[in-house]
Amino acid sequence: MARRNFVTQALTAGIVGALALALAACSAGSGTGGGGSTGGGDSKIVMGFAQVGAESGWRTANTKSIQAAAKKAGVTLKFSDAQQKQENQIKAIRSYIQQKVDVIAFSPVVETGWDTVLKEAKDAGIPVVLTDRAVDSKDTSLYVTFLGSDFVKEGQKAGDWAVKEFGDKPTNVVEIQGTTGAAPAIDRKAGFAQQIAAKPNIKIIASQTGDFTRAGGKQVMEAFLKSNPKIDLVFAHNDDMGLGAIEAIEAAGKVPGKDIKIVTIDAVKDGMTALSEGKINYIVECSPLLGDQLMDVAKKVLAGKKVEPRIVTVETTFTQEQAKAALPDRKY
Ligand code: AHR
Repeated sequence: MARRNFVTQALTAGIVGALALALAACSAGSGTGGGGSTGGGDSKIVMGFAQVGAESGWRTANTKSIQAAAKKAGVTLKFSDAQQKQENQIKAIRSYIQQKVDVIAFSPVVETGWDTVLKEAKDAGIPVVLTDRAVDSKDTSLYVTFLGSDFVKEGQKAGDWAVKEFGDKPTNVVEIQGTTGAAPAIDRKAGFAQQIAAKPNIKIIASQTGDFTRAGGKQVMEAFLKSNPKIDLVFAHNDDMGLGAIEAIEAAGKVPGKDIKIVTIDAVKDGMTALSEGKINYIVECSPLLGDQLMDVAKKVLAGKKVEPRIVTVETTFTQEQAKAALPDRKY
């Protein structure tokens, strides 16, 4: 069991230094206790990871990244899939607390409603790492860090592209939002709105959730097409919903990327393929490859080392030409 150094962090700040050293020595030689000990002084970290679900290509790539990184880092991973339901994630986290894992990581389905379970983890001396998505808890001592993208910036990049692409032309935008209440849906919406605010010619005429799924994106786009005769741009909060929108646009006899332009966020392989084929016009990258960083953070925290409270993922954007060039090496 490798949790002992974190326990020192939960104690008063004044005694942290000395106690951390003492417990580090103790932990290194022990190997008794909760789920992950291999005994004989080889103290293996046990991580409980509560994943959102398998709603998108991004999520599948994120899960693979975490599983592969755990294996590489020698971390025992207990993994659960919440099927996009907060109550399932809370149950999983409680079960990890009961199992006395060393560290808990999770990507919160929605931003609100985490304080109670995070407090339970803190009281049990188990550090929590937020991965990919944020919570809105005022008490930031409930988690050690938030590792993931800047979703507001992603929305801003999509908005900047729209402003550049459409200039002063009257432009009707339909927005397909991610899961209601999820950090990326809230932040991407806000970032995009900020950048088009100074352009009254660019109007969001309809905005609805597609729950980050391809089927959701298709369904929402079908409804948008029925009720809006002039749509110039789709802003989809992820590639999968953009791909669903493409299906709906084609079924309506229109040409995606030409009759109706599309900007999305993620840059997973299917999205990049559609971009390279001219069906999507621009993609803002959101990297799912958080596994290695997550394992590093977990090791540092459990070794009593300081980690930054916010670790932002470095990301780029892709035009159609850039997608063609990047596709052969795209790993996910
Ligand atoms: O939280 C990251 C978002 O969640 C990705 O953009 C989306 O594809 C996923 O479902």
